[in-house]
Amino acid sequence: MDPKERIIIALDVGTKHEALALAEALKDARVVKIGMELFTAEGPALLEEAIRMGKKPFLDLKYHDIPNTVAGAVRAAARKDVHMLTLHAAGGEEMMTAASRAAQEESARTGKQRPILLGVTVLTSLKDEELRRIGFAHAVAEQALRLAFLARDSGLDGVVCSPHEIEIIKRECGGDFLVVTPGIRPAWAAAQDQKRIMTPAEAIGKGADYLVIGRPITGAPSPHEAFLRVLAELEES
Ligand code: C5P
Repeated sequence: MDPKERIIIALDVGTKHEALALAEALKDARVVKIGMELFTAEGPALLEEAIRMGKKPFLDLKYHDIPNTVAGAVRAAARKDVHMLTLHAAGGEEMMTAASRAAQEESARTGKQRPILLGVTVLTSLKDEELRRIGFAHAVAEQALRLAFLARDSGLDGVVCSPHEIEIIKRECGGDFLVVTPGIRPAWAAAQDQKRIMTPAEAIGKGADYLVIGRPITGAPSPHEAFLRVLAELEES
């Protein structure tokens, strides 16, 4: 894979104007993550504009609903040429299988590329005690691995996880099962609110396939130069 494709830029801004300005400044970036704030504010037109600018959209809406509804959303995303999207693995096997089948059927029908489907395991904001209160029987690490297995067995392409779970998920779920990780901080960037961080080279070294990076690049004085620095680090590793 081209190292440029491995860097997913988190467009954590509130308006289309800001998002497109960033996408334009990051002329070498290929993949941009559009989350619920930006999507709710600006809608699917933003996906079309990002694609017109040559970017591949990662739609991070973390679908979690009944199988029929999630399958419909996945079909709609596939028609919009979404490159990658997320759904909650806790939605269960039937939901994920329906999503996976919908992505395949829609791409066969339209001839468009099938979106890459990624499971969200346990949100990093949830701790062991909170999981128990919700009603889950296991601690975070075990729950995350269980959900990764379920995502794999339901036909998803991979999961989003913290850099510290890359190795175990790759080992347990197999090398072909994709791992996408946020919490990336180059040695020259501030940690900010990210607690369990790793550098880009470390995360790739542990087996991550894609890195989600926001502020170290988007908040840099020159986002383009920050992107090139991260890219150089990946190419060296
Ligand atoms: O700016 P920063 O590099 O911290 O951005 C990381 C991105 O990854 C943000 O869009 C954030 O919402 C997302 N993310 C995360 N931790 C998770 C899941 C997603 O930081 N566990």
